Amino acid sequence: MNQIHRAVAIDGPAASGKSTVAKRLAASLGLVMVNSGAMYRAVTWQILQEKIDPENSASVLEAMNRMEIECGVEDGLSTIAINGRLLTTEIRGAEVNEHVSKIASIPEVRERLVAMQREYLDNNDVVMEGRDIGSVVFPDTPFKLYISASEEVRAARRAKDGEADAVAQRDAQDRQRKASPLKVSDGSIVIDSSDLTIEGTVEAAREALIKFGWED
Ligand code: CDP
Repeated sequence: MNQIHRAVAIDGPAASGKSTVAKRLAASLGLVMVNSGAMYRAVTWQILQEKIDPENSASVLEAMNRMEIECGVEDGLSTIAINGRLLTTEIRGAEVNEHVSKIASIPEVRERLVAMQREYLDNNDVVMEGRDIGSVVFPDTPFKLYISASEEVRAARRAKDGEADAVAQRDAQDRQRKASPLKVSDGSIVIDSSDLTIEGTVEAAREALIKFGWED
């Protein structure tokens, strides 16, 4: 792992509150927050735009090889652009929710995006959230958190966001895939956010970092 910059890895299932907590934690520590899921979502969005069958891995890879993918940082948050178009709210729609886990199960898709995720550490201290950050992207970081919440709480949180999202089904796919499945990686501290407020979860995350020896 990069010796100069530090990475806080936050993994967990869909709608567990990872993004909100990662954002607040990064802001309070002065780190860049990287949303790795946005990268899988952006590729999925582009595949759907091009009317490519997400189930056809060979076509997906052929299309992905033609994509110009640019990752950046704006106001302390990661950004993602494909073929020059900055992607934001469009990647959170129901159609992307439905197909993203399939696209993310393709090893070559992961390989390209993981390389880009690691590059963030060349110039930044980061809080990165996703499914495989502690297990695959930054396995050597001492700062690993896993944020969970009950299935009911997560379904209710996503329903409040107003987008159709079968979180239980997406989680099952993310846990069962061969390539970098969602799991609690060795050395993680698990925070169950079911009965915690956002502030309470951020506080628990800060306490966990201190246990790991984090120094401001
Ligand atoms: O925000 P939400 O919890 O809905 O999910 P996300 O973080 O935006 O991730 C969307 C999907 O991308 C996940 O369901 C996974 O299939 C995939 N993903 C992944 O495979 N690995 C990551 N590091 C991050 C996301």
